[in-house]
Amino acid sequence: MMSLIHVFLFLIFGTLASLAMSRTIHETFIVDKHEEWMVDYNRKYESKLEKEKRLNIFKENLEYIESFNNGGNRSFKLSPNEFADMTQDEFIAAHTGYKMQGNPTLSESTSFMYENVSDVPTNLDWRVQGAVTPVKFQGQCGCCWAFSAVAAIEGIVQIKTGSLISLSEQQLLDCSTDGGNRGCDGGRMVNAFEYVIRNQGITTEESYPYQETQETCDTEKQINKVATINEYQMVPENDEEALLKVVASQPVSVAIEGHGQDFRFYSGGVFTGDCGNALSHAVTVVGYGTSEEGLNYWLVKNSWGETWGEKGYIRIQRDANTPGGLCGIAMKASYPVM
Ligand SMILES: *[C@@H]1O[C@H](CO)[C@@H](O)[C@H](O)[C@H]1NC(C)=O
Ligand SMILES: *[C@@H]1O[C@H](CO)[C@@H](O)[C@H](O)[C@H]1NC(C)=O
Repeated sequence: MMSLIHVFLFLIFGTLASLAMSRTIHETFIVDKHEEWMVDYNRKYESKLEKEKRLNIFKENLEYIESFNNGGNRSFKLSPNEFADMTQDEFIAAHTGYKMQGNPTLSESTSFMYENVSDVPTNLDWRVQGAVTPVKFQGQCGCCWAFSAVAAIEGIVQIKTGSLISLSEQQLLDCSTDGGNRGCDGGRMVNAFEYVIRNQGITTEESYPYQETQETCDTEKQINKVATINEYQMVPENDEEALLKVVASQPVSVAIEGHGQDFRFYSGGVFTGDCGNALSHAVTVVGYGTSEEGLNYWLVKNSWGETWGEKGYIRIQRDANTPGGLCGIAMKASYPVM
């Protein structure tokens, strides 16, 4: 016959055992998720130790993503994408790369050619207009600045000439080394524009393909200059209205804070932050619009491949009532002039 105390102990141990079990189930779930993720993203580790370490980082990231998604009522979702086994520091070092250091460049124009634009469409997608090449992948090299500058040039070239030509980031990475640009360690789009002006052109992606690492500037590979620009201009700072006037006319290079957890794991919807204005990443605004739930957004092309975000794109909230725009998107915007 069981005494009351026995029943009590039985209950206690029963609860402890099921707690332990559910923890194990959770761990198993994470291990399985990690295995699936490794297959999806073709990830292999060099040792058991490395795998163990990556599993732990993956676990932390996955827990963050799940708690965010279960937090309810957000206009966007996160997912364990290709960056899910990296720490925040590793991610920043390898995949961003907008740097503010260096001297102001030479041919920066103080005029704003779109200042008198008054009629802009209520929404616009330069992809539909044929002015945007497929999403590219910067890989493990902090040269987002080259991808951003190239996308803006590809845009204006298509708008002016009718030809959409994929242009060379590698040429910029290897040859645009003035003004504080430091290859895979970061740079600025205005320096890249400056280089293209001085060099009187840029060649195709095909002639001078992307290598994911900085090499010596190759004058042979860039002989076939297919496009050039005459100058570049800055969008008046912290002015989303001004930015709108430009985007209504052509794709625009922008710097943003692109290293937060929410930005890194963004998988779709209108991104509303968390996001400050510590500019760390460069992307290209290729349109704008208003979502079904009534949020205004900027349509932004990233250089993290098509598995990130909305097939490589993100919609960042527009008119968010934040100085400089959400993620600082209106702080350092620039565009090439042809
Ligand atoms: C979700 O948030 C939006 C805007 O922040 C608000 O208008 C709406 O009422 C919220 N919905 C729920 C179910 O809380
Ligand atoms: C805009 O309009 C003003 C007033 O008419 C004029 O002075 C200015 O030059 C115009 N700006 C551009 C870029 O055309």
